[in-house]
Amino acid sequence: MTEREHLSIAPDGQPHEAQPRWRQDFPIDWPQDHYVARRDFTKFMVLTSFAFAAGQFWIVAQNWLRERRGKPAMQAIAPLDKLSVGKSLTFDYPNPHDACIVIRTGEQRFAAFSQKCTHLSCAVVPQFEQRRFHCPCHNGAFDLETGNPLQGPPRRPLPRITLEIVNGTLYATGVEERAV
Ligand code: FES
Repeated sequence: MTEREHLSIAPDGQPHEAQPRWRQDFPIDWPQDHYVARRDFTKFMVLTSFAFAAGQFWIVAQNWLRERRGKPAMQAIAPLDKLSVGKSLTFDYPNPHDACIVIRTGEQRFAAFSQKCTHLSCAVVPQFEQRRFHCPCHNGAFDLETGNPLQGPPRRPLPRITLEIVNGTLYATGVEERAV
């Protein structure tokens, strides 16, 4: 046994296993310290895996219910860390040619809409600084958070894509068609 692996005797002379919980969790010797680190890491991995499995199970159950109710399935868009504040991503939802756009408008705020302008279906582009989506075809604009028309020919808001976060990933969960 090297000096580093030397085991200290507790003040009461009892073995390590008989020591109070706090002393077991904060050992002063290297081998025991490594054991605690491994044990905590294993606990962390088990809990993380369980949370991930529970999240996946929940999504499968949700999609089964949605299918029964004739609603579109949940669809993963991106892990949250791929979308910093002010950044946007395009995706197709609920069908392969339904272009949509999501933007992170704040640390805990996201907004997603159909990317088709409600005037004549040109693709809108986000302008984060101006807090709007711009339509270059006829200079239309929509509010970045609500999708409501702000200027130009569009009279109807952009259809909103509802969102949910599961296990650190952003999911599209439905389309809200909205009246004027
Ligand atoms: S198509 Fe967007 S303003 Fe006309």
